[in-house]
Amino acid sequence: MTTSARTLSPLHLFLPTLFVLATACGDDEAPSSSGDTGAATGGADETGETGAQSGLRFWSDVAPLYYDNCVTCHREGGVAPFALDNYADAVTWAAASEQAVSSKTMPPWLVTSDGSCGDFLNSKALSDEDIDTIVSWIGSEQAEGEPRDDLAVPDTGVLSGPTSYAAPEFVPEIVGGALAEFDEYRCFLLEPGMDRDTFLTGYEVVPGNEAIVHHVLGIVLDPEAEGEPGLTNRETVEAYDAESPDRAGWPCFDGAGPETDDKSIPVAWAPGQGVVDYPDGTGVAVAAGEMIVAQIHYNLADPANIGSSDQTTVNLRFEDEVEHPGVMLLPDLFLDTLYGSEPASLPHGEESVEYSWSIPLGFVFPEFGADSMKLYGVLPHMHDYGRRIDMRVSGPAGEVCAADVQAWDFNWQLMYFYDNPMTLTADQTITVTCTYNTLNASEPVTPGWGTQNEMCLMGLFLVPE
Ligand code: HEC
Repeated sequence: MTTSARTLSPLHLFLPTLFVLATACGDDEAPSSSGDTGAATGGADETGETGAQSGLRFWSDVAPLYYDNCVTCHREGGVAPFALDNYADAVTWAAASEQAVSSKTMPPWLVTSDGSCGDFLNSKALSDEDIDTIVSWIGSEQAEGEPRDDLAVPDTGVLSGPTSYAAPEFVPEIVGGALAEFDEYRCFLLEPGMDRDTFLTGYEVVPGNEAIVHHVLGIVLDPEAEGEPGLTNRETVEAYDAESPDRAGWPCFDGAGPETDDKSIPVAWAPGQGVVDYPDGTGVAVAAGEMIVAQIHYNLADPANIGSSDQTTVNLRFEDEVEHPGVMLLPDLFLDTLYGSEPASLPHGEESVEYSWSIPLGFVFPEFGADSMKLYGVLPHMHDYGRRIDMRVSGPAGEVCAADVQAWDFNWQLMYFYDNPMTLTADQTITVTCTYNTLNASEPVTPGWGTQNEMCLMGLFLVPE
């Protein structure tokens, strides 16, 4: 295991010098505030038992909502385990669907999107009205109505003008040890050296084997920066790759590898995300000569998948000029305690454990020669014990809620871009608070990169002003 303080992100470099507030505390708050209990009551239906007259028909009222919001995944051959594109399946899955839409776990869109904490581009959250329609139909006699065949799923988008990179065909193995019980994180060199200065403005990941590819990061490295002591990043990556000649790529729990110096992480993909376009006019700089590494997180928790292979394709769109060049940082001061003399840990056996960290932005912005930066997007990230994560921005003018996930789900790690990017100033502080349920842990939960450890990460896509 790595013990040295190397970079997970550019921010990592100067974290040790920051004045940082980080606390972990046990379950001393009212457990009733837990989001978990909400699901039990969230499904309650005022219209009473099935059989009541709602006047709603599946094909005219509910199917259009399902096709728009569910059928992309819930169809034959889709990523979801059952279909919702026909009446019979919709009835079979009615009770579960009522629960899923009223607790807002489906469709997968984790950030609160009711306007109380940020406004997000391309929100996939259902409106309250749509939830009402679905719940009322399920709570009524579930009438079918006149079948129709004119419904289609929305276009999931096509990435224009991409450069396609194919990762090698690979059979993952469980190698994580205590830090990642069922996982392998493997890195592959996609781009050995960009041929020009450019900007990454969009991406799309096509997993070869959807059952095992849990997330993919695209990481940019300056080949000349120092990686392993005395070696450049390029030499470091070559050395890692050479260690296992019989298997493609190299192990990389820590960004692009245990000792690489990662410049930025502009690609963060999880299943169901589809095409990701950076907001209008923005993009992440990739300079001539820089390398791009894909970190693929394989999960083999289901033994049926052991021995199966994957070949993932990463499509990246580059543009040679953008109006607002940005940076992607991945701060996690919980994870960073691994590098200190006393790593943090979460007490086990608690229904609600909170960990919170803060960064005064005055320490961050000078690094980018900026007095202020615009926050264009966030990427919340925890593992299986995670329940809630939020980010607040506080300063002389008060406190603003910037992002809030009330029902964290490890399977759905997405990047969320803002409708109206927020200007952050050097006199402000960001505070990220993560809440975990450690009832299933048999010992204290330590920070780490495997799904059995925890993280408290809030990726930030920032544009210096
Ligand atoms: C982006 C893909 C995607 C979309 C869109 C989606 N689902 Fe799902 N759904 C899944 C997957 C995958 C699962 C399996 C469990 C998981 O991975 O979360 C699932 C599971 C479910 C379940 C099983 C119970 C549960 O909550 O896990 C229900 C019910 C469900 N979805 C209903 C819906 C409904 C209703 C919609 C639309 C309003 C919807 N889903 C939209 C992918 C999707």
